[in-house]
This record gives sequence, C-alpha cells and structure tokens, in this order.
Amino acid sequence: MARIAYVDGRFVPISTPAIAIEDRGLQFAHGVYEVIKAVGGRLLDLDRHLDRLERSLAAIDCPPPTSRAALVLLLEELLRRNRLAEAVLYLQVSRGTAPRNHVWADGLEPNLVVTVRPARFPTPSEQREGVRVLTLPDERWARCDIKSIALLPNVLAKQRAAAAGCREAWLVDPDGVVTEGASSNAWIVDREGVLRTHPLGPAILGGVTRDVVLELARAEGIAVAERPFTLEEVRAAREAFLTSTTSLVLPVTEIDGRPVANGRPGETTRRLAARYAGRCGLAAAVTG
Ligand code: PDD
Repeated sequence: MARIAYVDGRFVPISTPAIAIEDRGLQFAHGVYEVIKAVGGRLLDLDRHLDRLERSLAAIDCPPPTSRAALVLLLEELLRRNRLAEAVLYLQVSRGTAPRNHVWADGLEPNLVVTVRPARFPTPSEQREGVRVLTLPDERWARCDIKSIALLPNVLAKQRAAAAGCREAWLVDPDGVVTEGASSNAWIVDREGVLRTHPLGPAILGGVTRDVVLELARAEGIAVAERPFTLEEVRAAREAFLTSTTSLVLPVTEIDGRPVANGRPGETTRRLAARYAGRCGLAAAVTG
C-alpha cells in the first residue's frame, strides 16, 4: 500500500509532488519539526511533543498551522489511513509560501506536512551489544533548543559517523564538553556512579525521551545530575548511552574506537532501557 502523507489540508500518496517551489522551508530552511512514535496505534508522549512544537513555533515567530485539537485528529487519521500500528510520524511546519525574500509578511500562513513510516526501533542485538559513537566538533548554531529543520551540521556529522561505522556522532564544543548527539541526547554514568546529561539551554535540544528518562531515573532512586560532561569524562565513564524517540534508550559501548568501560552495556543503562521500553509498550530486549 502506498504511504499517505498530509499536506496542507489534503491526504495524498507520498510520491505526489505537493510542496510549492517557494515554500520558505525549501528556500530558507525556515521551519520546525517534530518526530513522534506510535506504538499499538497510540501516539506516545503526544502532549510533550506538541508542547515542544509550540515552543519551537513561538521561537521562530510562526503561528500554529491548526488548533491543537485539529492537529491531534489529523495525526490519528493519518496513522489510521497508513494502517500502521508501530510507526514514526514526521511533522513539519514551514513559515509558508511567498516570493523568495528573507523578510516575510506577518500574515503569511504556515505550511504543514506530516508523513508516517513504519517504525524501525533498535534491534535486540543493538540493544544487547550497544552501538558505536564517533565524536566530532559541534558546528551548529546558538539555538539548538529550537527543533529547526535546518539540520545541515547534524546530517554532515551523522554521515561522517556512518562512514566510520558508527551509529551516532557526539558533538563536542570548544571547551571539550559533549553537548548531545546529531539526533539524540547523550548520557554517561560517571566514575562516581552519577548519571549525567547536559542541562537544558540553547546548546541542546530538550529531548522528550530525555525528560522521560530523567523521571524514570529519579523514580528508580538513581543519582542524577543535569551537568555537562567532557570528552575526557566520557573516556573515564562507567557507562554511556543515548536517547531519542526512535532510538529509545540505546547503550553506547564504543567511542572513537575505544570501549566504554568493559565494552558491555552497563547496569544502569540496561535498567533504564528496560523501564523505558516497558513504559512504551515495546518488548524490552534488555532486562534490568
Ligand atoms: N531527533 N537532540 C537532537 C539534536 C535531536 O535531533 C533529537 C531527536 C534529540 C532527542 O529528542 P527526542 O527524545 O524528543 O526524540 C536530541 C529526532 C528523533 C529526529 O530528528 O529524527
């Protein structure tokens, strides 16, 4: 069955040419997006994703393309039409269509596109063995908290990581601090046993999975600190993992060709991976 997309008020086969040449998303990367997963036909953490979408839109002076209630109905309808129980929805709002000019008119209507694809969550063996990460300089802009569609530094970093046989790139700022991954948040359990991730702020995207995992960790009584960590601290860490909507909680067992600790997913990582997968209704490949 051909996948169905939603484009500005219409449900169309995904191959339909449906984007205007002068869409500001296409011309300027002037837009924001969200990635939401569905499990068993249910959209997970929908409110958190839509809250973040509203924050991103406000940050680029873009009105919401529809009411929140209408957006929810539309996402559910798209999921239904694509007949997918486990899926990833990609929702993109651009600042609208107008003759190309950096300056735009206040009244310009935003454009909304939503696509759905079958979910490809980490395989049981990736969960069991962990994945490799390559570190690279963080070359992004100063507002990484906005979920902007301008992802050039992210895609270049991720491509370099893939070429080096790595699943993700961890981005390192000029002070040697690991900010986050190219498309995920970065975590370690440090040598003192404290679970660490970069604090919220303009240097990272506040991941929905990050928030949930922080809550799960606190509920488990795990010592947690939202405190930056350096590449040097990563090298001395007991455990490392990454989080995102599509990668879930994924152990990182090798960084720049060196094993993290003994090269096996650590106990805290496995516990959180199992709790998170359980919460999402996904069979946990790793048990705590
Ligand atoms: N990426 N940091 C960056 C730079 C990201 O692109 C993402 C998500 C995250 C994790 O956010 P969340 O837990 O809300 O998925 C952190 C999505 C999945 C993507 O671009 O496909």
